[in-house]
Order: sequence, then structure tokens, then C-alpha cells
Amino acid sequence: MSHADDHEGTRRDFLYYATGGAGVVAVGAAVWPLVNQMNPSADVQALSSVRVDVAGLEPGSQMTVKWLGKPVFIRRRTEEEIAAARAVDVSDLPDPIARNNNLGEVPATDENRALDDSGEWLVQIGVCTHLGCVPLGDAGDFGGWFCPCHGSHYDTSGRIRRGPAPENLLVPTAEFADETTIVLG
Ligand code: FES
Repeated sequence: MSHADDHEGTRRDFLYYATGGAGVVAVGAAVWPLVNQMNPSADVQALSSVRVDVAGLEPGSQMTVKWLGKPVFIRRRTEEEIAAARAVDVSDLPDPIARNNNLGEVPATDENRALDDSGEWLVQIGVCTHLGCVPLGDAGDFGGWFCPCHGSHYDTSGRIRRGPAPENLLVPTAEFADETTIVLG
């Protein structure tokens, strides 16, 4: 990565794409200093994990935290979003692989991408798999994310549905530490 790219990425990562209510912005702002503090340098980053308090996140909203230099989208999905994601036939997907670091190479069902069994929680690296822009939430033709750089549409499971991106948004290593805390890494 060139110096210019690095600088651009750093500035971009400081933006929050919190949607769905003022409360989410407050949560994001509270999380930021913790995440930032726990990622002090590149060599330490390689080993780091972070804890994210998601207690204030309402259904239908998401927060973005920075982890290992990248934005991570944490979304608490509505029943409608889950139902839409689970109604999709995997054989219709451009990328049939789940892209979930917590699992092996498994089919891109929504069940294989969500963090919990109910599907309420979805955690993804917020980097378009085409050329690395940060997609926008609550956008696009499939109700999920839309990358404005070249027009990639992701569904409510973060799977690529239309546009140049070759792969689904990556699901990073993550788990619940308790009911309201997600650990990344
Ligand atoms: S970087 Fe997202 S569509 Fe090109």
C-alpha cells in the first residue's frame, strides 16, 4: 500500500456510518476511544482483539468501529432484514461462499454469516471487495449496502448481488463475550 493510499484510508476510517437514530451515533462515539487506544501500532494490531459494547444498538441500525485499521460494520438487523436474507437461494448468488472467518469454506447462507442463531447480529469488514471503498448502509437495490465507487449492491446479509465486487463482505473473527459485548479478533 502506498503512503497516499494509507493516508486516504486513515481519513476515511475515521468517518462513522451510523444510521438509524441519534442513539447509535452516541454509542459509536463512546466506542471509538476504546478501539483507538487498543490499536496503538501496526505490530501490536496484528495480535489485538477489541471488545465492543453493543447494548445501545437498536434493531435496524448499525455502528462502525475501527479494527486492525479497517472499518467493521456491526448491524442489529430487523426481522424483515433477516427474513429477506434467509429467503435467498444460494444458487442465485454471484459468490456462493460465506466468507466467514469463523467457519471454513461453507455456503453463503445467511445462517453461515450471522453471528448468532437468530440472525439478529451481523458483523462484517466494511470494505468493498472490488477495490476497497467503504459501502454505505441502508442502501442499494437489495436493502443492505451500496458501494458508490463503482456501483456494487450488497443484500441484508452483506452478500454481493449486483455490480463489480467479486465477493461477499468478509465476516471477521468475532463472538459474543456476553449478551451486550462483541469481541473482534
Ligand atoms: S470499490 Fe466498491 S464497487 Fe468498486
